[in-house]
Amino acid sequence: MKFFIDTANLDDIQEAYDLGVLDGVTTNPSLMAKEGITGEQNILQRYKDICDIVDDNVSAEVISTEYEAMLAEGKKLAAIDDKIVVKIPMIKDGVKAIKALTDEGIRTNCTLIFNAGQAILAAKAGASYISPFIGRLDDICTDGLTLIEQIVQIFDNYEFETEILAASVRHNMHLIQCAEIGADVVTCPLNVITGLLKHPLTDSGLEKFLADYKKGNQ
Ligand code: G3P
Repeated sequence: MKFFIDTANLDDIQEAYDLGVLDGVTTNPSLMAKEGITGEQNILQRYKDICDIVDDNVSAEVISTEYEAMLAEGKKLAAIDDKIVVKIPMIKDGVKAIKALTDEGIRTNCTLIFNAGQAILAAKAGASYISPFIGRLDDICTDGLTLIEQIVQIFDNYEFETEILAASVRHNMHLIQCAEIGADVVTCPLNVITGLLKHPLTDSGLEKFLADYKKGNQ
């Protein structure tokens, strides 16, 4: 299972990378805006900075919504670094752009997936990743994890090579349940990754080990 971090914050990316468990980064226009990164040049520079930290898989999202413009933007993003995966929204022109970019050997991540039909279409177009947003489905009383389960089953049936990238992952149980179901990738904020470290029995157990060592070595 791959771990991606869902942020454009360089400190968080570095911290997750230093932990030794990070396989990639996902960003989107909202996450860029959250970091105060605006304007094309600054956004492109931020992608470069992210690529300098991690080993691979940096999702960079297009802003265009028409085929030709998405294609041009996708190529521009892909030219930044071989680590870039072009993120394309699940719309009609997006599906066409995924097919064209895939044919040119450029990896894509189809974003804003909210049902299995959209996932099938993106996989048929050759997307390297599809991103179902599970937290946002939960927000509207629809079980996001059920969608992951459904897509895992469908992709297994047909041996689609497209990887299922669970996105909008908000907490540790989301991550663990995605792992149980068989999502290929989870993208989440730093606190969800570091949250996996925590258990009170680990803390109290370590405290006792160290106290007993101290007693025996006085
Ligand atoms: O990866 C998609 C993610 O950034 C959306 O997360 O929490 O805004 O639904 P959220």
